[in-house]
Amino acid sequence: MSFENKTLGEFINENQHTFKYSTGELSNLINSLRLAAKVVNHEVNQAGLVDIIGAAGDTNIQGEDQQKLDVYANDIFIKTLTNRNIVCGIASEEEDDFVCINSKDKNHQNKYVILIDPLDGSSNIDVNVSVGTIFSIYRRVTPVGSPVTKEDFLQEGNKQVAAGYIIYGTSTMLVYTTGHGVNGFTLNPAIGTFYLSHPKMQYPKDGNIYSVNEGNYLEFPEGIKKYIKYCQEVTEDRPYTSRYIGSLVSDFHRNMIKGGVYLYPKSTKNPNGKLRLLYECNPIAFLAEQAGGKATDGFKRIMDIKPTELHQRVPIICGSVNMVEKVEEFMSKFPS
Ligand code: AHG
Ligand code: MN
Ligand code: MN
Repeated sequence: MSFENKTLGEFINENQHTFKYSTGELSNLINSLRLAAKVVNHEVNQAGLVDIIGAAGDTNIQGEDQQKLDVYANDIFIKTLTNRNIVCGIASEEEDDFVCINSKDKNHQNKYVILIDPLDGSSNIDVNVSVGTIFSIYRRVTPVGSPVTKEDFLQEGNKQVAAGYIIYGTSTMLVYTTGHGVNGFTLNPAIGTFYLSHPKMQYPKDGNIYSVNEGNYLEFPEGIKKYIKYCQEVTEDRPYTSRYIGSLVSDFHRNMIKGGVYLYPKSTKNPNGKLRLLYECNPIAFLAEQAGGKATDGFKRIMDIKPTELHQRVPIICGSVNMVEKVEEFMSKFPS
């Protein structure tokens, strides 16, 4: 990465004026995420060296094994944001309930809440495959200075003011949007600086990659089964290529660069799909749309779903517009 490239810090400063009601608060928030990302990145890179891999012996609210790094990443993001007094509330995939910050301080003026999946794709850690962090930021809807409530977190995705992810891959990247396109920054680990490497990222309108856990094929709705068969058909431009890492951030990142569609549909085992609306689907949908892609549950826009629970799950189909629309076509013909 050339030192002539813009750094993330410079980019944040230069773009502060594009935020609505800009006071520097959102810039500070993104700066804090940048810091936490570097700390977690350091730890993820140590995973093979020190005894931090493997289950922490605990399960999260959804009954899944928590990996040690999940717990670590969760702690780092929560502590970094709490200590800097930057948000008024945090909800995390790894916490049963949201965390309220400075609830007793009437002078507490923070306006933003953040929702995070601190470590996405964590089953990939102990096999040295890319993992990520996903974040989603909203303005609170309850009065500034009062303790946050669930209402502040249960907002439709179309109310997000910023969203993004960090991918701890062959290189570490921070990719985010504040509603003015998507920009990607690559970490130079030698000096600990993120540089703007992928300005104005754009989803190709079409692609030839489909990403789905095909092991669940027999449990999928008819429309999804038919779409998968369509992907495999031999025509001039098919069969498509199947690529599935099992880490949403990584699958999404690849598809955004190369063109493709990611599907986590409902199944008989998971009638609402598996991915969480607030920590995974909404931020990914915001990024997809900002990059010119699309994200739906097969029938309607992800960002228009009214959340009812913090840990709610929804089916998701996201990626290149033409590919997502093709899936929707199959879903409307075979809705069950
Ligand atoms: P997390 O590690 O945060 O629980 O998320 C895992 C998610 C997502 O990253 C991935 O795409 C999906 O689960 C994989 O699920 P399957 O193993 O069922 O395919
Ligand atoms: Mn996840
Ligand atoms: Mn996770």
